[in-house]
Amino acid sequence: MTDGEPAGLIIRQKEPRNLETPFDQVRSFLTPTELFYIRSHFPAPMMDLASYRLRIDGAVGYPFSLTYQQLRDMQSETQVAVLECAGNSRVFLVPQVEGAQWELGAVGNAEWTGVPLRALLERAGLEDDACEIVFEGADRGMPVEKPVPPGPISYARSLPRDKAVQSEVLIAYQMNGRDLPQDHGYPVRAIVPGHYGMASVKWLTRIQAVREPFPGYWQTSDYGYWDDLDGKPVRRPIGELKLKSEIARPRIYEVLAPNQLYTVAGAAWDGGTEVTEIAVSTDGGRTWTPAEFIDRAQRHAWRRWQLQWLTPKIPGRYTLLARAKAASGRVQPDAHDPRYGPYVIDHPLPIEVFVGEPAGRAD
Ligand code: MTE
Repeated sequence: MTDGEPAGLIIRQKEPRNLETPFDQVRSFLTPTELFYIRSHFPAPMMDLASYRLRIDGAVGYPFSLTYQQLRDMQSETQVAVLECAGNSRVFLVPQVEGAQWELGAVGNAEWTGVPLRALLERAGLEDDACEIVFEGADRGMPVEKPVPPGPISYARSLPRDKAVQSEVLIAYQMNGRDLPQDHGYPVRAIVPGHYGMASVKWLTRIQAVREPFPGYWQTSDYGYWDDLDGKPVRRPIGELKLKSEIARPRIYEVLAPNQLYTVAGAAWDGGTEVTEIAVSTDGGRTWTPAEFIDRAQRHAWRRWQLQWLTPKIPGRYTLLARAKAASGRVQPDAHDPRYGPYVIDHPLPIEVFVGEPAGRAD
């Protein structure tokens, strides 16, 4: 990812740890683990391998628990998937909204190894009337988004049954070929490719099948959006990752030499289908040029892209934008959808740069 030393992370909150990837350092297909963003609502729990148990219960015929070793002994799969926090790029919203002011780096692309959730649900005998699967983590605390519950809660989130039984959903114990670090959910976490990061519950201790939609805190008070039901607004959980492209280089307010070739570079991803096209504008959206892909299309992974830009001869301030198109035919929307509140910032993000002298420094 970097040319030399690892670049470290940007601090958004000290405790619980919320640390952002410096997105301009994205130079490899896989985000190195030490540069992968960390998003935790409560302090990371200390987990003891010897006493660790993963319980699978609820609307199943044969509830059971697994030790860490029993999970490791099961047949595993490895796959690459993007995790993006639903609040990534929140700092671009005007007026400013509450929450950690993530820029471009609450997103990463890693290789995950674990047991398909489907295998565990099959073994447990998932009941026909189970409609969702609830993941629960070992971390606990008092959340902040209103309305808040009367006492401490654990981090728990549900997945619709249709998604939970897809082979890509993993109960993972490795990231980029090594055991999960504590901040990323050691020893075991869920990985839900194609959904925003909050679905991928860390420090996973319980998988519970339920017969009614789970209206838990992390999909109602927090991480919800306003949908439309026959003309009436209703609250629903945010789920599938939206198509998005981000510019990694240049950085905001970077000063570039005039009349020089500069490699504009970034990455793009989508929740459902493959990203097929990237268009880049260097004039604030008036004209667009196709960029070339660096990575092949791979479902659930990101695709890096680049464009050689001959910077203008005329010094001044220029606004760069990147817009992705997916195999579904969908393109990124022009603006943030207010129904998502402080989440799902999926419109092309303006990156302003100076060609020649930066403003106010022309002395
Ligand atoms: N799981 C637990 N148990 N507790 C958490 O706070 N944060 C979620 C998700 N899983 C969270 C969690 C959110 S909001 C995101 S974006 C991802 O984890 C971040 O995963 P990472 O820290 O490994 O990047």
